[in-house]
Amino acid sequence: MRSTRWASPGAIATFLCVGMVAHVVVGVAGVNRAQAETGASDLEVRAVNLADGLIQCQYNTSQGIFPTEDLWQSGNTLDTLAALSLALRNHSRDRYGDIFANTFARTAAVLDKCFDDHQWWLNAWIRIYEVTGHRTYLDRAAIIHDYVVAHGWETDTCGGGVLWCPAPTNPYKNAITTELFITASARLQPYAALVNRSSTYYLDWALNAWRWFVQSGMIDANHLVNDGLDGNCQNNNGTTWTYNQGCFLDGAVYIDRFANSTGATAVARAVAMAASTNLASAAGALTEPCGASCDGDQQIFKGVFARRLGYMLDALPLDDGSDNEAFRATMQLFLQRNVNLLLDRASCSNSSDNGFAPYGLAWDGPCTVATMATSSAALDLLTALLANGIEPDAAGRVTWPALGLGICVDASGATMPSCSIDNVTEADCGQAAAADPLAVAYEYHTSCAGKTTCVVRTKGTANSCPHGWSFKQGSASSVSRGDGSPLAICALRPA
Ligand SMILES: *[C@@H]1O[C@H](CO)[C@@H](O)[C@H](O)[C@H]1NC(C)=O
Ligand SMILES: *[C@@H]1O[C@H](CO)[C@@H](O)[C@H](O)[C@H]1NC(C)=O
Ligand SMILES: *[C@@H]1O[C@H](CO)[C@@H](O)[C@H](O)[C@H]1NC(C)=O
Ligand SMILES: *[C@@H]1O[C@H](CO)[C@@H](O)[C@H](O)[C@H]1NC(C)=O
Ligand SMILES: *[C@@H]1O[C@H](CO)[C@@H](O)[C@H](O)[C@H]1NC(C)=O
Ligand SMILES: *[C@@H]1O[C@H](CO)[C@@H](O)[C@H](O)[C@H]1NC(C)=O
Ligand SMILES: *[C@@H]1O[C@H](CO)[C@@H](O)[C@H](O)[C@H]1NC(C)=O
Repeated sequence: MRSTRWASPGAIATFLCVGMVAHVVVGVAGVNRAQAETGASDLEVRAVNLADGLIQCQYNTSQGIFPTEDLWQSGNTLDTLAALSLALRNHSRDRYGDIFANTFARTAAVLDKCFDDHQWWLNAWIRIYEVTGHRTYLDRAAIIHDYVVAHGWETDTCGGGVLWCPAPTNPYKNAITTELFITASARLQPYAALVNRSSTYYLDWALNAWRWFVQSGMIDANHLVNDGLDGNCQNNNGTTWTYNQGCFLDGAVYIDRFANSTGATAVARAVAMAASTNLASAAGALTEPCGASCDGDQQIFKGVFARRLGYMLDALPLDDGSDNEAFRATMQLFLQRNVNLLLDRASCSNSSDNGFAPYGLAWDGPCTVATMATSSAALDLLTALLANGIEPDAAGRVTWPALGLGICVDASGATMPSCSIDNVTEADCGQAAAADPLAVAYEYHTSCAGKTTCVVRTKGTANSCPHGWSFKQGSASSVSRGDGSPLAICALRPA
């Protein structure tokens, strides 16, 4: 008999392990390898668990949005779902097709207040068109672009750029609004003929907005983009929000692709590099300047940066004599570092105020704020990695690799004996499982109400659960898959 440390909220209990049988773990490791060849990857399981959980628990079908985040953020989240449906190896262009169709039917083309708000939707409908191939989505994107051209772009203030909001008395020109316009214009360029525009219509807008943006002075001496321009059309030295470093990154690559080299990609590379070092914690986690006190609006910004960096890496031409390859390698490591931190440190023990919200604000933890926006940002990060074929680094992981969605079962659907407890983080669940030599796998479930449950599948017996944990008998002797239920993941002891 031996005892091991078992982490639990507020106290360290002791898990007594009886009758340890070493060869069982070896047998399970074999299953793990077999699954890895045919099943979804660790990151795919986690991304689908998160995406499908957000849809099941947070999407309001009659409104067509995620009402627990800001309206613009719903547009951003739909962009993510479209990107995710293509990034999965086992992809289906219709995976979230019902969500897109429902949202399309229940939302207006122009549905919010300011010109940045509209353009999250504009960029989302472009990607949704590309993923689904349905023309109506492209037409809606063109309508929103026309609206921004007609009402948002103006030259009276600072010679160009898109107004933040329709506010004639305070015509603020900020970075995010023009960045979104640059990217949307460049992304629409290939479809100009389809929506009856001249062959250079969108490219001209992209170049026009891009040239204004780079000469405006909004990019500072450290290659970081500040919030916007002051009354004298000078850089206002406003906060260098992470999403301001991200929303033109892929747009810049497309400008260089369609207009031949304009140097836009080199500018984008410099800004992304600066963000990865200047807007990161000591541990290397992308960190918002507002730290722990970000409001609901700001809670999603990091995700926007990560995902658009992912789009940029995916679009970058290689072997073109530039520094793109070295840049891509550096950024892939940055994204991988961030996902390792997220999985090990940012999971939440409960998120009752906001329902299903498994990941917190700080990617290097601990989870102190858990909302739809912080979880949507986590989905952005997972999607950025998947879109570029990057998996977390297994070495030193606290959380075990996800085997599949749902409750851990064997080939016939039976469960093993288990010890379970509510409201611990996944990291605590993983540490508890790792500390018990008889543990084979664990399940981690987050309910729509925000309650989390950790279930350790074990070769132990009734009296082997620590104090405060519940024992449940089962008939299986191994775990080979999850049962497919979307709100849980089954994670298996690594080989
Ligand atoms: C792939 O997708 C199909 C259909 O959506 C599903 O039945 C199957 O389980 C998926 N496979 C993996 C490995 O996710
Ligand atoms: C969805 O939104 C509708 C309309 O605002 C509201 O009546 C309904 O209660 C919401 N449903 C849920 C599950 O929150
Ligand atoms: C584009 O032009 C074609 C041919 O002239 C026409 O059939 C179609 O309706 C037009 N589409 C739009 C969106 O104006
Ligand atoms: C912004 O910072 C720069 C460099 O420190 C300074 O020259 C400039 O005056 C500042 N601008 C504003 C609007 O504060
Ligand atoms: C880019 O270069 C190609 C080939 O060199 C040329 O055909 C094309 O017109 C150029 N495009 C632009 C927008 O200058
Ligand atoms: C939720 O988690 C927080 C932080 O770990 C903790 O203080 C709180 O007691 C938990 N609430 C419930 C209902 O378990
Ligand atoms: C777990 O958290 C949920 C929601 O936060 C709460 O309702 C429940 O009472 C908590 N359970 C325990 C055992 O703390």
